[in-house]
Amino acid sequence: MDRMFHVIEAQQFDRELMGEIFSVTKEMEEVVSRYGSSILNRRIMATLFYEPSTRTRLSFESAMIRLGGNVVTTESAREFSSAAKGETLEDTIRIVEGYADVIVMRHFESGAARRAADVASVPILNAGDGPGQHPTQALLDVYTIKKEIGRLDGITVAMVGDLANGRTVRSLAYLLARYDDVKLFFVAPEVVRMKQDIKEYLDRHGVHFEEKEDLIEVAQQSDVIYQTRIQRERFGDRIADYESARGKYIVDSNTMEALPEAGRVLHPLPRIDEIAPEVDGDPRAAYFRQAHNGIYIRMALLRMVLEA
Ligand code: NCD
Repeated sequence: MDRMFHVIEAQQFDRELMGEIFSVTKEMEEVVSRYGSSILNRRIMATLFYEPSTRTRLSFESAMIRLGGNVVTTESAREFSSAAKGETLEDTIRIVEGYADVIVMRHFESGAARRAADVASVPILNAGDGPGQHPTQALLDVYTIKKEIGRLDGITVAMVGDLANGRTVRSLAYLLARYDDVKLFFVAPEVVRMKQDIKEYLDRHGVHFEEKEDLIEVAQQSDVIYQTRIQRERFGDRIADYESARGKYIVDSNTMEALPEAGRVLHPLPRIDEIAPEVDGDPRAAYFRQAHNGIYIRMALLRMVLEA
């Protein structure tokens, strides 16, 4: 394999590369159970986050530490880094690459990770670029589906919620398109339907998808319900639109009754109220296990981009 360098968008991963990442990820599960490793000893990862994060930043940082590496970090970079003084993203990257061997970046603008990669001499890992993409989340989502359902070919996934602004569903659609006989249902409030670019990509790649309104009917026919949060921060002052979208599709005990016994519910988290707490105790609620898989995937990615 050519050495993987930047991780910017989901389209850069084919089945073969994902297979390789997932086998390193499996190894990483064992590394964690042995309390870590020193393979990235003396390597430094910088996390540069211009938008809020809990899981993504902490799991990347924990992943680096589990591999023996070190972490330098700026959270709230929009307020606290030199961006607040007017420094361009490109200049910031030129500086930070002198301090770290890899940069994990979350930004509020779609395309920011690509811009950073264009000037960076160290790997840039996109931890979410506005409403653009979130490829490391989508990799951990696919890994979770494989682990929970046992297969990827032939699966039916219902993507629910904010499909227009949710970067995780966008990246996930690109990744799932690599597998055979995948079927996607899109269940979204009118104002946040899946965008045309993804639908055209799926058409071009022969992936069957349907836009649906009835979540119960869709649940009956799905292996996975991938629920998402309505992305309040992308609505600006369109409060009426936000209110019309929020609360439209809730996964609750009725949805769980419709979902097959072997089905699963995933969510990138954080959730607001789109999965009722009563669902948490159901063994098919896989979202907390999914979040834990983030550490293994991120260890695998760090190892693959940094190991010489
Ligand atoms: C997601 C994100 O930031 O896009 N969170 C995450 O990284 N797990 C989903 C969200 O914020 O709704």
